[in-house]
Amino acid sequence: MRARITGTGSYVPERVVTNADLERMVATSDQWIVERTGIRERRVVAEGEACSDLGVQAGERALKTAGLSPADLDLILVATCTGDMPLPSTACLIQHRLGATRAAACDISAACCGFVYALAVADAYIKTGLRHVLVIGSEVMSVITDWTDRNTCVLFGDGAGAVVLSAGEGERGVLSSHLRSDGSLCDLIVVPGGGSRHPPSEKMLNERLQYIKMKGNETFKVAVRTLEEIARETLAHNHLSIEDVDLYVPHQANVRIIKAVAERLGLPLEKVFLNMDRYGNTSAASIPIALDEAVREGRLREGHLVMIGAFGAGLTWASTMIRW
Ligand code: UT7
Repeated sequence: MRARITGTGSYVPERVVTNADLERMVATSDQWIVERTGIRERRVVAEGEACSDLGVQAGERALKTAGLSPADLDLILVATCTGDMPLPSTACLIQHRLGATRAAACDISAACCGFVYALAVADAYIKTGLRHVLVIGSEVMSVITDWTDRNTCVLFGDGAGAVVLSAGEGERGVLSSHLRSDGSLCDLIVVPGGGSRHPPSEKMLNERLQYIKMKGNETFKVAVRTLEEIARETLAHNHLSIEDVDLYVPHQANVRIIKAVAERLGLPLEKVFLNMDRYGNTSAASIPIALDEAVREGRLREGHLVMIGAFGAGLTWASTMIRW
């Protein structure tokens, strides 16, 4: 039994924030942002728009392309680090709004790797008997972004992507998942406040602990190394070489990270999907948004071999090989 991707969908908020807009907010320039990250613009939610609002839209679109109704779903997994509220889970809010009356629902927390972790969990559940699982990556990074910190505010964006995984026989589907973590590097990317360590308080807010802090340069180096390592492990596990891969869909954090990984792997850039120029880093949403766009652009077709790679806070890093 394999978990086959039978539908994809994505949704990004309407509001566009360009690099020129950021030039008016912090000491930065369009040239610096484009050269150092590859990002030109990102989407930001409207007031009152939350994680589940984006996730519902992406989920509905994925169900439509899969030709399924919400009541067909056995499980909904939502990868997010910016859920609507600490509890209930955003997955339960989405389950209710979709009308997925038979589905179990829970969130997965693995930051930018969340979608790849959720995909692996969904795959495992399908191998043990579930039929249809909706996996959503949805993030409102703008609420944990410190819009006065030029080191981070130029990087992130909001959005959601989703896939439907369905049980099927044959060669198509998830071939393998590879998940890693190293909590000793937890201080590289962190939102210190708002949880049980630094609960909401005036002091916490004054210290701006509710916002993301990142050691960008160190993260960059670890990202390149771990993405290369896990891609090699994924290829070796499946007895494949890099030439066999039709499309590499990496987490969209920084074009220079992706280019460095592609070069080390010997992968031509034509086989790498890039869209961070339009959305920035949307954390757990970046890969499902990219998959949906790759399908709609005709770059991902039946039978293609697609490799996914992600890294993020934790640190976590992960990879999946899929026969589409
Ligand atoms: O998905 C989560 C995982 N996170 C990531 O993947 C992020 C990984 N890291 C990165 O993408 C890059 O490290 C950044 C884009 C965040 C930064 O690029 P960098 O080439 O590593 O720059 P840097 O941090 O070494 O900073 C170089 C200079 C510094 O100035 P000085 O100290 O050399 O005078 C920064 O203050 O660039 C300055 N700088 C900026 N200048 C203009 C930092 N941010 C900005 C900015 N505009 N927005």
